Amino acid sequence: RQKIIMDVDTGIDDSLGLLYILASPEAELVGIASTAGNVPTPQVAANNLALLELCRAPEIEVALGAEAPLAIPLRTTEDTHGPQGIGYAEFPPPTRRLSDRSAAQLWVDLVRAHPGEIVGLCTGPLTNLALALRIEPRLPELLGRLVVMGGAFNHPGNTTPTNEWNVHVDPEAWHEVFAAFRAAPADRRPLVCGLNITETIEMFPEHLTRLAERAESLPAHEVSEHDAPGTRSKASNPVVRFLTDAVRFYFEFHRQYDQGYLAHMHDPFAAAVALDPGLARTRAATVDVELGGTLTRGATVADWAGMWGREPNADIVVGTDPAVFFDRLIERVGDF
Ligand code: BDR
Ligand code: CA
Repeated sequence: RQKIIMDVDTGIDDSLGLLYILASPEAELVGIASTAGNVPTPQVAANNLALLELCRAPEIEVALGAEAPLAIPLRTTEDTHGPQGIGYAEFPPPTRRLSDRSAAQLWVDLVRAHPGEIVGLCTGPLTNLALALRIEPRLPELLGRLVVMGGAFNHPGNTTPTNEWNVHVDPEAWHEVFAAFRAAPADRRPLVCGLNITETIEMFPEHLTRLAERAESLPAHEVSEHDAPGTRSKASNPVVRFLTDAVRFYFEFHRQYDQGYLAHMHDPFAAAVALDPGLARTRAATVDVELGGTLTRGATVADWAGMWGREPNADIVVGTDPAVFFDRLIERVGDF
């Protein structure tokens, strides 16, 4: 099975990305790094632990990341993801414990223990990974592959006119990470899912209905502490209930910004690509981020034509079939 380390700022769509990985038989989740972004790190970590409990996943190490970006104060976005980062859903306090190591140390220890075998999947700001690189500069060679959700390539931002959220929160971290991959061979180049592709991954209420219907067609699951006393109904599948409450908030957020009653599945798409890069059509480019500027700080720039004279350090996803992705998401997460 493919070993995966996830680095997340959970986050409604991060939650779905995590569920996707947990539901995928070919994946072995070996650790979860919690990063500050959508909500502060302690809340992210609590959400990760609670999600693992919700799906009765085996014990998987969840580590706390840095409380703030490398060089600037933390900005969070509760209006996008809800007060706790999970929309209208609520979790009981987790009973599982956090790891004793930091998220950066978790990265380093795992890639050293399994050289070349781990896919890193980052769906939040890259702070932890940048800190890990400072501890272990050989990380790009030790990692099997890196898959990142972030940036916006020849496409408007979702946070400022030019900035995608994950990069906006910690542009210095993005810069350090992509500088470290400058000399990566073609098969180790980070796969980057920017807004140019993830905004084509539109979830509509019909997708959730299909997912719930699939879950309800399965044999009744055992009743857990998340179910109302006495229930044994299939509709009480706690994962479906969680998703319904979480994603409704995300639908309402997108409608508020005139994007329609839909939700962009940025992070679950990156999760799907991490397990099956064949889902994505890519183009090699050299990417970097604007760290100065008065209007464009945090903007990601792709040099597609080699004008900077630097080797490509990213494979940017430029095409996919969203219907194939949604079939897979529904099939997998609907089977919890
Ligand atoms: C990214 O920003 C976050 O709010 C989402 O979880 C996703 O990772 C999209 O710009
Ligand atoms: Ca995220």
